[in-house]
Amino acid sequence: MKNKIYCGEINKKYINKEIIIYGWVESYRNLGKLIFVNLKDREGVIQAVFKPQYKIAYNIATQLRNNFCVKIKGKILERTEKNKNLNLLTGEIEIIVFDILLLNKSKALPIDINSVNTEENRLKYRYLDLRQRKMTEILKKRSIIVSYIRKFLEKNKFLNIETPILTNSTLEGSRDYLVPSRINKHNFYALPQSPQIFKQLLMIAGLDRYYQIAKCFRDEDLRSDRQPEFTQIDIEMSFTKSVLFRCFIEKMIFNIWKNIKNISLSKFKILTFKQSMKYFGTDKPDLRNKLKLIDLSNFFIKKNINRIISISIKNKYLCNKKIQNLIKYIYYIKKYGTNDLNIFQVNHNKLINIFNIKNISIEHLNHKKIKDIINKNKSNHNDIIFIGTEIIHYNNISSMGYLRKKLGKDLNLIQKDKWYPLWIIDFPLFKKDKIGNLVPMNHPFTSPKNYSVDNMNNLLKKDPYQILSDSYDLVINGYEIGSGSSRINNYKIQKKIFDILQINKIVQKKNFGFFLEALKFGTPPHIGIALGLDRLVMLLTNTNNIRDVIAFPKTTSANCLLTKAPNKINYHLIKDLGLSFI
Ligand code: AMO
Repeated sequence: MKNKIYCGEINKKYINKEIIIYGWVESYRNLGKLIFVNLKDREGVIQAVFKPQYKIAYNIATQLRNNFCVKIKGKILERTEKNKNLNLLTGEIEIIVFDILLLNKSKALPIDINSVNTEENRLKYRYLDLRQRKMTEILKKRSIIVSYIRKFLEKNKFLNIETPILTNSTLEGSRDYLVPSRINKHNFYALPQSPQIFKQLLMIAGLDRYYQIAKCFRDEDLRSDRQPEFTQIDIEMSFTKSVLFRCFIEKMIFNIWKNIKNISLSKFKILTFKQSMKYFGTDKPDLRNKLKLIDLSNFFIKKNINRIISISIKNKYLCNKKIQNLIKYIYYIKKYGTNDLNIFQVNHNKLINIFNIKNISIEHLNHKKIKDIINKNKSNHNDIIFIGTEIIHYNNISSMGYLRKKLGKDLNLIQKDKWYPLWIIDFPLFKKDKIGNLVPMNHPFTSPKNYSVDNMNNLLKKDPYQILSDSYDLVINGYEIGSGSSRINNYKIQKKIFDILQINKIVQKKNFGFFLEALKFGTPPHIGIALGLDRLVMLLTNTNNIRDVIAFPKTTSANCLLTKAPNKINYHLIKDLGLSFI
């Protein structure tokens, strides 16, 4: 196949060359003696000029309308000085058209690709929305990023191996999407929440360096960085340790930023889960926001185990914002469980309770203690100090963590154009779920840190929440970009974890018997990570909406507005599948 020439790529090197291009009419002007058409394709726009001397082409050009699809043959010429358009990448040249083929007409578009449209309409006509320059550029960048990652991993001897989509539950902690089997009536496949079990089996198979650009499916509540169907850069490797593996991933991320954005990231910071929760109230802190949580628990007589936290804001950051408007934060944080937020203003060595809400009383504190609080917050005269009881949530963000985030955003405290990549390590192995059951913090194949069966038994008896895992999350600017761990490669420990999680023996055998058995055949030590490709592309294209980086995304209620999926299925199909209960 001949090398394709794109409208947007033609430059002065093509002057006097005859070429063929394809594209869509972006605009046209009929000046009588000349017809000008801006022709666009995925790479950009070029001006095509139709002259009456090329009669057939000229006549066809008179019938052109926006979005008609055409093939053009012509010669590239330099524009006269006065006709050069330096706003256009191809603005110094134009194509004089000898021949045109009208490939297809177009109706008037239901969306305006040059202006703002409702997201609903954009998703309904996604194929037209994707013609917008911004959207095309994002998809092009996504393709370049994936290609870069593949090259990087393959250069390091990773094999690209696909794993099944129709499978069993992969125990990643979300709800599964289920697919009924026609042949095995009343049986269901689950779509993979990740290729976790299969990539571990590949390690047992001796394929010691694996990667996959893998589709994952999770039936969970959606957010601006979460889709029900998303893509992971899934990686697994045998015979290495967390520290070395993290260095390897760090190098890949560093090179991606260098290649895609020409930015050299600084060395990745490392925080333990405990430190991250302590200073930022979240396991995915945005370090562009310099606010920190200060623990004031020692100053108060505590009725419960929660910490009393302060966040201090310099007066200069309030700019023209009225102090009285700060009351909104008292209501904001109630949503996250803190009912006693007090807001103080520093008045020399005193703290003035702005709204006179006395849930957290400082009246029992003497002058010295008040001074200590002010010093601990590094506050000066007129600065503001928020003090409230911290409530920690199931998703590892605390109420004061939410407040830190909100204040950072509202008061413009986020340093724009900065990158703060960091590793969060040493997550607890277990956490409590919403109803208080013991569940894995990550997934049940994560290895406890420095374990032996005996010391785990002891720890379990004492406090299972104290057991740490050999795990790590990659966080960049407040987004969890990736998550991984060293894996259990010992049958006894894996079984023990299933027991602790109260996965009953029958389910263990039925659903994971094959995996437990596989662990008995010389399983190598192995380790891995999955990076969220969509989130990575979001960061690299400066967007904060995951739907912008996926060609055909779902809405927050998990619908595809284009195809109308999910849909009711017809009665005969239900019968055929043996789903008589629907
Ligand atoms: P985890 O569940 O943390 O780990 O997922 C890894 C990364 O995938 C991305 N991600 C998502 N992106 C968009 N929409 C979603 N619904 C979504 N869910 C997750 C995040 C996240 O960090 N098997 C393990 C990995 C491992 O241990 O190797 C796993 O899937 O960026």
